[in-house]
Amino acid sequence: MLPFTRPTLDTEEFEAIKEVLQSGWLATGPKVAAFETALADYIGGDVQLRVFNSGTSALEAVLLAYGIGPGDEVIVPAMSFVASANIIVRCGATPKFVDVDLVSRNIDAAAVAAAITPNTKAVIPVHFAGRAVDMDPIYQLAEQHDLLVLEDAAQAIGTQYKGRQIGSSGNPVCFSFHPNKNMTTIEGGALAINDPVLLKKIEGIRFHGIERDAQGGMDVTAWGGKMNMPDVSAALGLVQLNKLDGFNRKRRTLVERYLQQLPAHDALVLPADAEGHSWHMFCILLDWEKTGLNRNQTLEVLKQQSITAGIHYPAMHLFSLYRQYGYKPGDFPNAERIGAQTLTLPLFPGMEENDVDRVCSAVISLLNGS
Ligand SMILES: Cc1ncc(COP(=O)(O)O)c(C=O)c1O
Repeated sequence: MLPFTRPTLDTEEFEAIKEVLQSGWLATGPKVAAFETALADYIGGDVQLRVFNSGTSALEAVLLAYGIGPGDEVIVPAMSFVASANIIVRCGATPKFVDVDLVSRNIDAAAVAAAITPNTKAVIPVHFAGRAVDMDPIYQLAEQHDLLVLEDAAQAIGTQYKGRQIGSSGNPVCFSFHPNKNMTTIEGGALAINDPVLLKKIEGIRFHGIERDAQGGMDVTAWGGKMNMPDVSAALGLVQLNKLDGFNRKRRTLVERYLQQLPAHDALVLPADAEGHSWHMFCILLDWEKTGLNRNQTLEVLKQQSITAGIHYPAMHLFSLYRQYGYKPGDFPNAERIGAQTLTLPLFPGMEENDVDRVCSAVISLLNGS
């Protein structure tokens, strides 16, 4: 069975984890410090990196540190993994969804501008499936309206924007290292930022609010949670980070093959390549009315050919939680169409070119109604 994703792990990763297990120090320790340094070197720019037990924790910590809370509105795309919106609810603020582009799956500055009200405090652009959002116009808009921009780069480690790594700008940018992502720490996430005052607050939020003085004494002046990454994960991350560019090159080769083989067809919307795209996922849209099979039937046909496809994602504003904020079908046509028609085709570095060929022939047969 060809899965839609699979982490690429071998003896180097197993040895790195074994070393930590044998060291006697499993929780946050020297491997976390080394991983944060290695990530900062990789991202470049004048930023500090801090790792967390998940991408969600990193995003939450930033919103909490900025004091986003009740009465505040936060703009977020209607098409993303639900964590992008749940973190807003977690802070007691109100999510303000906006529609995305059908091909890039990303928001743009015009969509953000149209959603700004006097209560807007922040915007969370999501670099969907590893494709960079056009950030410059969003930063310009944010400056005019004094908004926090928190980039959700959970799917975008290794993505570049205008030739620079996502995360190197100095504004808060969060990554995820969940096993589906382009590199993994099992669960885990990271924040890139260059604001030392906020970083101090975020470090407190990450670990019980604990502050240490030079003698090792401890004080707690503000609430903090439990969001730290264990050394076992960091050791895995150090090995995976070394391989990340190679993984991403392989992803690009596989995507180029998909794009060469999949035809232009009126029932099919293909994702488009873009400069710096790290190709976390390859998501197509299929018009079920034109192919004559619905999504479940399509998934079944693929399964019979030992191919698993994914669904990323249902439009978030149509979840029961978000309908309570007044959202309804018809609000965001592109996000809803993506939610209804999307299929994630297999894409991971361990795939071979003939796996791509096999998936393409299965999709072409579906398009031809055979
Ligand atoms: C866009 C997006 N944001 C946030 C997250 C949350 O990351 P994590 O699973 O590491 O908490 C994910 C994870 O899939 C994601 O895809």
